Order: sequence, then structure tokens, then C-alpha cells
Amino acid sequence: MAKEIWIVGASQGLGLQVARDYARRKRRVVGLGRRPCPAPDLFEAWRQADVTSLDSFEAAIAGLYGEGRGPAVIVYMASTLYQGPLTEAPDAMLRAEIDTNYLGFVRLCQAVAAFKPTGQTVRLVAVASTLGYVGCPSLDGYSASKAALISFARSSRRELAGHRIAVQILSPPHMTDGGADLVGPQPFTKAWAAPRFARAAERGPPERLLGFSNGLMLLMARLARPLAQAIMDGIGADALRRGARRPAV
Ligand SMILES: NC(=O)c1ccc[n+]([C@@H]2O[C@H](COP(=O)([O-])OP(=O)(O)OC[C@H]3O[C@@H](n4cnc5c(N)ncnc54)[C@H](OP(=O)(O)O)[C@@H]3O)[C@@H](O)[C@H]2O)c1
Repeated sequence: MAKEIWIVGASQGLGLQVARDYARRKRRVVGLGRRPCPAPDLFEAWRQADVTSLDSFEAAIAGLYGEGRGPAVIVYMASTLYQGPLTEAPDAMLRAEIDTNYLGFVRLCQAVAAFKPTGQTVRLVAVASTLGYVGCPSLDGYSASKAALISFARSSRRELAGHRIAVQILSPPHMTDGGADLVGPQPFTKAWAAPRFARAAERGPPERLLGFSNGLMLLMARLARPLAQAIMDGIGADALRRGARRPAV
């Protein structure tokens, strides 16, 4: 039987592109997001759920398992971000970043452990970012939320393995069509990232970044941390100089 994949945060962006890629490869795709289903032909099932609401998110996961579904992979794409001067970052946005980008994944782990049939195995994919490894000016709260996600994903692996849950950390590159406004060394698109992301999520190692320049940045972060931070400082300072803002004001 074709593998079933669930994507949390599939209504737009990379989540929707990855769903398209899986569907092309005859996977059965289930999507979750706050909005109604964006492409009814694409998804085998769709649940409207808010990952920041324990009740709503838990009920969606419990309901899907209650229908007898057995996903091989659950990709956690849901995210939000504030880009701009940190001195002007609204408190509500800072909270939303932590709640959506990090705590939502914690809720997913808890709900899967609670509602998945004991004998089933599943791989959870925490969608991180290079900025979770090296923080970026103009995206301070977002960088911190992804760093928290990475730390949690690593430390939760041992306990969750006892529930037959594997945890993978997979970071797409910075993509120029959507997301934050940054000028990085290599221009990637969602069309470039989606098929590579989908393949890595199914078969890849426990922790991986896509894109050569991101791999290089991670290596630098390990071997020459100040240099990695100086490069990221330059990228973020340029965004601040240009007045980059998300959401637009
Ligand atoms: N774009 C980049 O360059 C880049 C680079 C590195 C890493 N990433 C990561 O890759 C992933 C996808 O990025 P993207 O740019 O494609 O993001 P995006 O276009 O902003 O999409 C985010 C998705 O998350 C969902 N979402 C947000 N808040 C939610 C909530 N409270 N409950 C449920 N769903 C929620 C949104 O759906 P609804 O609004 O319908 O709920 C949407 O489908 C994210 O984790 C991002 O951090 C992106």
C-alpha cells in the first residue's frame, strides 16, 4: 500500500509544494492547517487545526488516528515569523513564533505518542532552518524559536524511540519566493527545494540541511563560530538597512 504522509502547515508555501511532490509520487497525503483545504484534489484528507491550540491540534491528530490511518512520515512545517528591528518586535509576534515554530512541534510529539497505535512506527520531521544554527539579525525571535526546536528534537529522540517514534531535523535553504527577506549567497526556490525535501524526509539522515551554502555555514558554525556569525550578521544587517519587514507594516 502507498505510504501515507501527513503535512502540518500544508496550506501554502513549501508545505503545499511538498504535498504536490508526494502526490506526484503516488503517496497519500493528508494536510493540516488553519485554513480550509487549498487543493481538494491533492489531499486524501484535510483537517483544520491550529497548532497553538492544544485542544484543536490534539483533536485533529486523535481524529486522524481514530480513522485507522497509519502515516509513515509526519512533516511539521507550521511556522510564523517577524522580520524587522528587534526593538520594535511586537510581543504578540514573539510569542506566536515560539508557540507555532517550537511548542506546536512539542504538542505534535505528545499527541502522536498518545494516539498512535502502539505497534505503528512513524517518523516526525521537525522543519528547522540554518537560522536555528546561526541566529540572524532582523529575525532574532524566529532564529531563537528554530534553535529551541532543534534542541528539543535532539533531546526528545531517546524517549520517543520507546514509542516507535523517530525524530528527524530537516532544514530547507532560504528560498527567495516567500518567507523572510534575505539576500543569501545562493538563490534557491521552493521548486528546487520541494522534491529534495520530500526525498530527504522519507529516507534521509536524522539531521540535514539542504543547499551547499547552508552546509558550509553549519560547518563554519562548528569550526569557526565567530566567522559564521559575522557572515550572518552581514546578511541580517543588509536586510535591516533595506528596511525588510515581515509581516509588512
Ligand atoms: N521560506 C524559507 O525561505 C525558509 C527557510 C528555512 C526554513 N523554512 C521553514 O520551512 C517551513 C515552510 O516555510 P514557508 O516559507 O513555506 O512557510 P509559509 O509559506 O509561511 O507557510 C507556513 C504554513 O504554516 C501554517 N501555519 C502557520 N501558523 C499555523 C498555526 N498556528 N496552526 C496551523 N498551521 C499554521 C500556515 O497555514 P495557515 O496559515 O493556513 O494555518 C502555512 O501553511 C517553515 O517551517 C519555515 O520556518 C523556510
